[in-house]
Amino acid sequence: GKVRAPTHIISTISDDRGEEPCYAGVPMSTIIEQGYGVGDVISLLWFKRSLPRYCTQFIEICIMLCADHGPCVSGAHNSIVTARAGKDLVSSLVSGLLTIGPRFGGAIDDAARYFKDAYDRGLTPYEFVEGMKKKGIRVPGIGHRIKSRDNRDKRVQLLQKYAHTHFPSVKYMEYAVHVETYTLSKANNLVLNVDGAIGSLFLDLLSGSGMFSKQEIDEIVEIGYLNGLFVLARSIGLIGHTFDQKRLKQPLYRHPWEDVLYTK
Ligand code: ACO
Ligand code: LMR
Repeated sequence: GKVRAPTHIISTISDDRGEEPCYAGVPMSTIIEQGYGVGDVISLLWFKRSLPRYCTQFIEICIMLCADHGPCVSGAHNSIVTARAGKDLVSSLVSGLLTIGPRFGGAIDDAARYFKDAYDRGLTPYEFVEGMKKKGIRVPGIGHRIKSRDNRDKRVQLLQKYAHTHFPSVKYMEYAVHVETYTLSKANNLVLNVDGAIGSLFLDLLSGSGMFSKQEIDEIVEIGYLNGLFVLARSIGLIGHTFDQKRLKQPLYRHPWEDVLYTK
């Protein structure tokens, strides 16, 4: 019989060998002719399946909402400084992307992990938040530098409104809101932030859509797919900031001495 040489790579999401490329088995002509959107492409390449329209639209809303948040946030600031140092697009982009992490934009996976664990174990918000405090861990998905009880994050409200209208269940998001009610009783800026809203709502999407087994949901949460949404989205803004600086022919950035506390 035929002997197949062992391969060095296994790939399960796309195939470019035929007449046209396929994403998770769906040919490019179907993707284009049937009017698939970016949310559908993400569903195919990340989750290896087509998801219902309300799910792909939710993914697209996350991408649009997180695309940018002005020039002052960590990512944009890094990209701006890098572009002004005369570096190329890719360098400016990755310089911004490298700031995405547990404090900035990259708390979505941990928010999903901790909210899921706390909800599934039936912890009250008090038990959950105080338990985290004892462990010395800030609750991922809670807190913001400029948003607060009286200056809510519109992005979070828009995501919540969409999910209330389209999702069969928003139990994880409701749990996150109960956690927020408790954390707000401690300090004004401990709001549910956009990472926490996406993390909890994605749990609702995964568990409520009927498209994923329990084991698959656990794997998605464990591997950590969801920070990918912020990375992908914010790349749009970081590229924009890079072009903006180059268009404006901005000179090399140097931070003003007056803004540094020189001390021994
Ligand atoms: N959980 C519990 N307590 C908190 C939290 C939290 N998530 N955030 C702040 N606090 C409390 C702590 O007591 C903190 O004191 P500590 O420094 O001794 O831990 C105190 O508030 C002071 O915090 P602030 O100075 O007001 O918070 P700061 O503005 O420095 O941080 C930040 C904002 C980084 C978002 C913070 O709230 C945090 O780490 N949150 C969790 C991570 C997260 O969700 N990041 C995503 C933000 S949204 C985005 O980037 C798109
Ligand atoms: C963002 O989306 O970049 C923000 O929520 C972070 C910030 O400090 O505004």
